Amino acid sequence: MDGRDLVRSVKVVGSTRAAQGLRTVRAAWRRRRTDAAGLPPRGAERARVPGPVQGAEPGPGGGLIRFSRSELRILVTVNGAVFWGWDGAGPEPSYALAGRCPEPDPRAVLEPDKDGGWRVVAERVTIVVSRHGAIEVCTPGGVMLRRDLPPRWWEPVGGGAARWLQRSEVAADARFFGLGGRASGARLREGTYRLWNTDPGGSFGPGDDPLYITMPVQLVVADAATHLLFHDSSWDGTVTLREGEEGAGSGHDRTGRCELRMDGGPLRCWVVVGAPARVLHTWASMTGAPALPPAWALGHHHARWGFGSEQEVRRIVAGYRERDLPLDAVHLDIDHYDAHQVFTVDRERFPGLPALAEELRRDGVRLVSIVDPAVKAAPGNAVFDGGSAVDAFVRDAAGGMVRGEVWPGESVYPDFTHTRVRKWWGGLYEERLGQGFAGFWHDMNEPTSFNAFGESTLPRSARHALEGRGGDHREAHNVYALCMAKAGFEGLRELAPRQRPFLFSRSGWAGMQRYGGTWSGDVATGWPGLRASLSLVLGLGLCGVPYSGPDVGGFDGSPSPELYLRWFQLGAYLPLFRTHASLRAGRREPWEFGQDVLEHARVALAERRRLLPYFMTLAHVARRTGAPYVRPLWWGSPEDRALRDCDDAFLLGDSLLVAPVLDPGTDRRAVQLPRGRWYDTVTGRVYEGPGQVLVDAPLSRIPVLARAGAVVPVQGEDGGLELEVWAPVRGRSGGGVVVPDAGDGWDEPEIERYVARWEGRQVVVTREGEDGAGGPAYPVRIRGLG
Ligand code: NOJ
Repeated sequence: MDGRDLVRSVKVVGSTRAAQGLRTVRAAWRRRRTDAAGLPPRGAERARVPGPVQGAEPGPGGGLIRFSRSELRILVTVNGAVFWGWDGAGPEPSYALAGRCPEPDPRAVLEPDKDGGWRVVAERVTIVVSRHGAIEVCTPGGVMLRRDLPPRWWEPVGGGAARWLQRSEVAADARFFGLGGRASGARLREGTYRLWNTDPGGSFGPGDDPLYITMPVQLVVADAATHLLFHDSSWDGTVTLREGEEGAGSGHDRTGRCELRMDGGPLRCWVVVGAPARVLHTWASMTGAPALPPAWALGHHHARWGFGSEQEVRRIVAGYRERDLPLDAVHLDIDHYDAHQVFTVDRERFPGLPALAEELRRDGVRLVSIVDPAVKAAPGNAVFDGGSAVDAFVRDAAGGMVRGEVWPGESVYPDFTHTRVRKWWGGLYEERLGQGFAGFWHDMNEPTSFNAFGESTLPRSARHALEGRGGDHREAHNVYALCMAKAGFEGLRELAPRQRPFLFSRSGWAGMQRYGGTWSGDVATGWPGLRASLSLVLGLGLCGVPYSGPDVGGFDGSPSPELYLRWFQLGAYLPLFRTHASLRAGRREPWEFGQDVLEHARVALAERRRLLPYFMTLAHVARRTGAPYVRPLWWGSPEDRALRDCDDAFLLGDSLLVAPVLDPGTDRRAVQLPRGRWYDTVTGRVYEGPGQVLVDAPLSRIPVLARAGAVVPVQGEDGGLELEVWAPVRGRSGGGVVVPDAGDGWDEPEIERYVARWEGRQVVVTREGEDGAGGPAYPVRIRGLG
């Protein structure tokens, strides 16, 4: 038991009954015993490298290159992505891909290169393979973006999964992003990042890693181009990064390094090269379009672990209403369950949920339910009985049900890697819909078991169906929550076919955006936690998961009024805008922090409401193009190195730049601007980028700048759509898109494109249509005219 384990167990023991504390010890012993019996011992291993090249066979989109001890398959697909796999690995089966592997690009051909190597030349990338199996990813102009050295494997002599290592070099100016949700910064500094979805136990800050969502997805931004690299293996692993350094013209640049070590799984990867927008578009075309949330999910949510009763829910909702504060959703946590059992209701404290839900809905407030995967292991519990009848629960190597310890006590875990189990689980949401819930919050699905020592999850030897291939938890762990999301999403599509499912999940993996979003998890209350909140949203967006947000105010403790307000102001510009806190945390309602905070929070809420059409448009843009709502400042100008290093501000879509206050006692802050003209949206003051400027950041607001020429759809005072247009620079034009959305359902609204330009002394806005330009269908307000 290391120090952290001890703290974890003390926390759990201290926070619940002593009996549960004892059970966490038992759960940990049981996990250890299960693995001792069920995991093959790691005996002698044989090391291997590909060896010298022997020959090649061209095939559609690339071909096969044979080495003396391995073979490499390369495939360029029609969307411009490149796949390569060693040892016969192909792109399928894959949990990340949304459907079948894209078709080969017939124009890409494998041809001999110098020194006995081979190369594949495609439209957007050239792949050069050396005769010992090093792989270079180059731009069409021949600039090298990445060099993967020949891989190494360590194979157990008696058979079993081989460990492998892939070392790579990137340009000296390259910066790393991605790897799922990382608290330490959107930009990943030097360090080792583990690929194993983990509940950190208690709350986390920027120093905690890994967290709930890890992904072997790297986005590497360099002068020559941006590339995304995805190693399609769900096994445990580590990525060690070292940023490069430029020798200030001395010619002694230090290249950036990346070392990936995996415990198993195929050595295969995808690479996509291009501008960031193009890269994310291709990534979404492979791993699936982000699910479109219903409009209400883009409003303000209030959650709390421990509302405790219907009366308290009514009190909170009334608190919002009496103060005329917008509220769109209330989330019920595990305390509304009967003894913490999933898909049940505590009928004493929540005697009339469907009626409560109906009453709230009349006021425009939806109810969202937490859904935990662990099922109390007790005959008589309907979910346990139903699941047992379809053999739904994860078993160990000896055939016994694997038991862990979660909120309801001793629990079993559905094996979501089985179609039959997903189908069964998806049907259970009928009970939730019957209770009046409109949205679903998947929690504890790393999956977590409160083990007093060792890892807080299932035994590694636990068996999983893995879609019929069969395997164990070492392979299934990281995709467990992804498969749970699939089960929930598909169940809801059947149960309520006319509605867009609203689902967000604490854990997940590459491709999770197909089913919904995520949130920060238990981010620690404190200024570092506030900063981590933004890192997570930015990083996840670059891995293809655009909808997320933090627990506003932090999960634990009590934020100072200033911290709460700054968190609230940031949250108002993130896709999921939700206040939430732990059972024992202080209050989080905007009126609990004094009159000033209440008035400033009201402004943030009103602004969020006003921007709803813009958020809805961004949701559609994300679905159609993969571009996240929240983008790093370098999104449109990755060649601007100062922007690459800057992660304390972000772009919200194409039009807005949001500069949250992340430190106490601030009334002005520096903002690194991308090129172009920017207007302070409150004062109208003009700033010219690129470069750093100082902007006002009084307690009443965080700086939000609008790009000159932007056309932003907003909600007018009468509730209708309006266009807010920021004057373009003279002699230039601007524009923007609007997607008028019905709020829910599956109609495909047309994307409306607007152009703003100067005509004489006036800014004129026109809608660009197939049959020429026309006038906009909405009132237009021109701003920034000085
Ligand atoms: C852990 C989640 O991260 C948190 O948001 C939730 O309140 C608790 N579980 C209780 O369900």
